[in-house]
Amino acid sequence: MKISIVGAGHVGSTTAYALLLKGLCDELVLVDVAGDLAEGEALDLRHCRAGLNFSGEIIGTDDYSATRDSDMIIITAGMARRPGMTRMDLREKNIEIMKSIVEELMKYNDDTLLFAVSNPVDVMAYTAYKESGLPAHKVFGLGTLLDTMRLRSIMAERVGMEAALSGAYVLGEHGESMFPVFSQMSADVPLDELNDLFEDVVKGGIKVIEKKGATFYAPGLSIADAVEAVAKDTQDVLPVSVFLEEHGIYIGYPAVVGRGGVKPSKMTLSPEEDEGFNRSIEVLKKAQRGI
Ligand code: NAI
Repeated sequence: MKISIVGAGHVGSTTAYALLLKGLCDELVLVDVAGDLAEGEALDLRHCRAGLNFSGEIIGTDDYSATRDSDMIIITAGMARRPGMTRMDLREKNIEIMKSIVEELMKYNDDTLLFAVSNPVDVMAYTAYKESGLPAHKVFGLGTLLDTMRLRSIMAERVGMEAALSGAYVLGEHGESMFPVFSQMSADVPLDELNDLFEDVVKGGIKVIEKKGATFYAPGLSIADAVEAVAKDTQDVLPVSVFLEEHGIYIGYPAVVGRGGVKPSKMTLSPEEDEGFNRSIEVLKKAQRGI
């Protein structure tokens, strides 16, 4: 698979590393307005060749023509949050950046999968969908896959790995209105305890940013999980950002992911979870209006 990553900053470069470690591509392109940065990251990664037994191309550039005929393009470019900011604070600036990037990409790619990571990610996925003219099943975003991994990781520390891997999810907006889904879990853990630890998921990203300036290991790994589903055509159900026709928006919702793209799945939510879902829908309808 040829994979291109636009944005060679913290998240883009860590994603590139995760993809190579997991052996998920045979050609990798990093594009960034900061051409030297992209070149430097690519060079550093090329020095891993022997260790990974990887002989495919690894290119870093500011020239979009290098992305020609990519199977999948991951967009991690744009402004990142600083302490005190919500993801929605990045909306205006990153919509402009996303539009200009997609316009460039579509000159060299007419049948690719676009995967948005930049925040606010659901708004970015919608922008990429509108701007690219690609069908909705070919455009998706990281959604609440990262939040789901954060939730399960915190659960692993506090209530044990078995419960953590027994079917907990985060769905909705990748932002302030995201909500936990515990109704699918096979493990029996008191709901109060679970709801308490969810607080740390909502604040998880900004806490890392406050301490080290950016968050990239967990994002990079969760992006690699989505890429793996595509590369291996697993048809796994993942909580990515998908277009829900009936609401006309992109939102974090379980979807079947494979080589051909994404298809929203179905999950029966409890009445409380349903309320959370409706709240996120309202937030995202407002945020995606007029793009
Ligand atoms: P960063 O600042 O380290 O990297 C961003 C890169 O984008 C920079 O290298 C910059 O030169 C590049 N860039 C800016 N405008 C560009 C353009 N027009 N064309 C090409 N490249 C351009 O930021 P970081 O930490 O890597 O975060 C990137 C984005 O990902 C942010 O919007 C952040 O909020 C988001 N993010 C999303 C997550 C999610 O779960 N969806 C998780 C973590 C970060």
